[in-house]
Amino acid sequence: MPLALVTGATVGIGRAFAERLARDGYDLILVARTESALHRVASEIRATFCVRVRTLPADLATVSGCQAVEDLVRAGMTIDVLVNNAGIVLRGPFPHNSIDDEEAMLNLNVRAALRLTHAVLPGMMARRSGSIVNVSSFTAAGPGALSTTYPAGKAWLLSFSEAMSRSRQLRDTGVQMTVVLPGFTRTELFDRSRFDASRLPSWLWLKPEAVASAALRDLARGKAVSVPTLRYKAAVWGLRHLPRLLLQPLFWDLSTPGRPGGMPVPLHAAASARPSVRD
Ligand SMILES: NC(=O)c1ccc[n+]([C@@H]2O[C@H](COP(=O)([O-])OP(=O)(O)OC[C@H]3O[C@@H](n4cnc5c(N)ncnc54)[C@H](OP(=O)(O)O)[C@@H]3O)[C@@H](O)[C@H]2O)c1
Repeated sequence: MPLALVTGATVGIGRAFAERLARDGYDLILVARTESALHRVASEIRATFCVRVRTLPADLATVSGCQAVEDLVRAGMTIDVLVNNAGIVLRGPFPHNSIDDEEAMLNLNVRAALRLTHAVLPGMMARRSGSIVNVSSFTAAGPGALSTTYPAGKAWLLSFSEAMSRSRQLRDTGVQMTVVLPGFTRTELFDRSRFDASRLPSWLWLKPEAVASAALRDLARGKAVSVPTLRYKAAVWGLRHLPRLLLQPLFWDLSTPGRPGGMPVPLHAAASARPSVRD
């Protein structure tokens, strides 16, 4: 049976990837920090899909957490599909967040994907097969969300993935890489960061299963970039191709002080808001 490793696999988009891959006949390695949640999800997937599921508790925001996964690969574990999905968002504006929190987000959202990709690529290239899915965000496409460093990390992942997937090294060896740009998706992401997204209109929200299905379909079609749904395809196209001047009035400050959790506010309102310490 082919083997897939999914990070952040206990809930949300990661769990949807795990279930979808299990349905397609993959054995799984599930990675996240919470051991009890990993065991619960693993036994549910085993029972439903009759595949083998291993769990690896690891904090991928740390080098030692990444190392635990890298050691598995270097010990000869053959990974056919790697899904770099684990990620977090911070609620506050950059200057008000602790530097440790900012660094942890950068380490998880960027460094973990870099390290795990680097660990699996030599084996995939030698076997001339294998796939990597990197979960970025539609916010990576342009400067749509001000005062948070989240889009900057996701933009790194988009740029990295597009460059790698089109590189001669990957194309010549048949290794496939797809970057996913989900829009707002109903998961635990915002609750975990106490980010109030409740006032966003319902039509903006996606289901995690739809994001994972679209991503795996686009991976199978050899697409470098996967954007689920037409409305987010249009948004991403606009963010990537329209002149910045034209987009400026639409920039949102999702973490404007005094507007916790962020109703979208026009740029001028964000600029005139007085900073206050995060509660
Ligand atoms: N939801 C959205 O609207 C949205 C939109 C665009 C992009 N995304 C991206 O999609 C990905 C998945 O997000 P989600 O919404 O599904 O998030 P989620 O529901 O909050 O799930 C996050 C998963 O990552 C794991 N995780 C968190 N910190 C970790 C760490 N330090 N080390 C290892 N695992 C860790 C969590 O388990 P533990 O806590 O047990 O570790 C959990 O399994 C993220 O990269 C996110 O940036 C989400």
